[in-house]
Amino acid sequence: MDSRISARALASSLGGWRTREPAYEALADGIRLLCLDNRLAPRTTLPAERELAASLQLSRSTVAAAYRSLRESGHIASLRGSGSVTLALARHDPGRAAAAEGTIDLQQASPPAWPGLAGVMSEVAAGAAALVARAGYDVLGRRQLREAIARHYESRGVPTTAGEVLVTTGAQSAIHLLASVLLGRGDRVLVETPTYPHAVDALRRAGARLIGVPVNTDDGWDLDRAEQAFDRTLPAMAYLMPDFQNPTGRTMTARERGTFLRAGERAGSVLVLDETTAELDIDRPHPVPAGFAEGDPGTVVRIGSLGKTVWGGLRVGWIRADADVIRRLVAARPAHDLGTPEFEQAVAAALLENFPRIAGQRSELLRSGRDALVGALAESLPEWRVPRVHGGVSLWVELDAALSSALVMDVRARGVLLSAGPRFSVDGGHDRHIRVPFTAPPEDLVRAVSLLAESWRSVRAGAPVSIIEQFESVI
Ligand SMILES: Cc1ncc(COP(=O)(O)O)c(C=O)c1O
Repeated sequence: MDSRISARALASSLGGWRTREPAYEALADGIRLLCLDNRLAPRTTLPAERELAASLQLSRSTVAAAYRSLRESGHIASLRGSGSVTLALARHDPGRAAAAEGTIDLQQASPPAWPGLAGVMSEVAAGAAALVARAGYDVLGRRQLREAIARHYESRGVPTTAGEVLVTTGAQSAIHLLASVLLGRGDRVLVETPTYPHAVDALRRAGARLIGVPVNTDDGWDLDRAEQAFDRTLPAMAYLMPDFQNPTGRTMTARERGTFLRAGERAGSVLVLDETTAELDIDRPHPVPAGFAEGDPGTVVRIGSLGKTVWGGLRVGWIRADADVIRRLVAARPAHDLGTPEFEQAVAAALLENFPRIAGQRSELLRSGRDALVGALAESLPEWRVPRVHGGVSLWVELDAALSSALVMDVRARGVLLSAGPRFSVDGGHDRHIRVPFTAPPEDLVRAVSLLAESWRSVRAGAPVSIIEQFESVI
């Protein structure tokens, strides 16, 4: 099905697009980036030139020139009578052209597989005859795995029974299932901004209206805004990442947790805690005690995954919730999928028995990536503000000008793929930030930073003076 985007929605997604001269090329670049990020899906009809011009307070000829540039670069096609439509990823994507020469892909913050995984898979495969004797369709998940997950929660200080656990195909599937079962069209959902973009996609698809609560690397969560948002809008749900929040890397303090818990209870909201990154601790010893352990299981739902701790390709995640909520999820799941593959579940159960060793090795890997990245940034880009993070997968770096999107486009042509700050935004903005994952090998990170530094010099030199001055007057 084709879709269309209104001029207002496009203007809001574009955020601070005016990052270079001429304006029409900056606008075209902004739309290209939305296509590359899949925020504008292929076959989306763009607004008419006149409407977009009015929304962006531009002349129609500037928008016409931007659309012409997009046609020439193969990003859109304009057909008489049906307007301008985005095309599938353009042949001219500079990132793709560079792929042959060793692109560094930092768009996904996913560490490589834990080195022991292949061995565990081989051991489980040796018992394959018993596995295939099972029925195979099981929307709740293997009992053996649910028990292992329950024990894992116990070790983190959250008493749990196997009946409070449902196994999913990764955390993403958990978010999607929860959104489809717990939300109705038009329900409000409180989300952090910046946040994990695919959660936003799933919540929006379920018809949710999102309310952003700011979180930043220096001060953490904006508790005043959070309390106001709970009290005034009574959200049905709050989707939060309390530990090593993706992308900021912040972890909630006890005060922040307490505020969310109380405000959520007052508003009757379900708190969905995505703990996909919670156990990626670099500087503290394992096991990592769970936050919100005092929470009422009726209002707190947890999501977990082995995607970052072991391997994204395993596709095993879970939901921990009150047994009544689990029953509702089980009833709704068949429309979504018919269970998680048996083999991967058996592998996951074996992995959880060995979790402390896995987590320790993960810490070492992430530490070497983080330290290499922090060191390279300090040396080559001292004008950027790099937060201190103690875990997670990425740094949320503050640039010294609001040129994140322009930087991402430029460095892409040099063979480094990154996501710009606005990708993580709920309500526009974050043009001054970029997420740099430290999950890649240290040597790639060092090379990526040197390319970023080259790119930054060129992007800054081409930026309108107003953007550079705007920032200087802020600091
Ligand atoms: C916060 C967060 N939640 C969920 C996911 C998706 O995890 P999975 O691979 O288990 O579906 C990710 C992956 O990047 C993530 O960062």
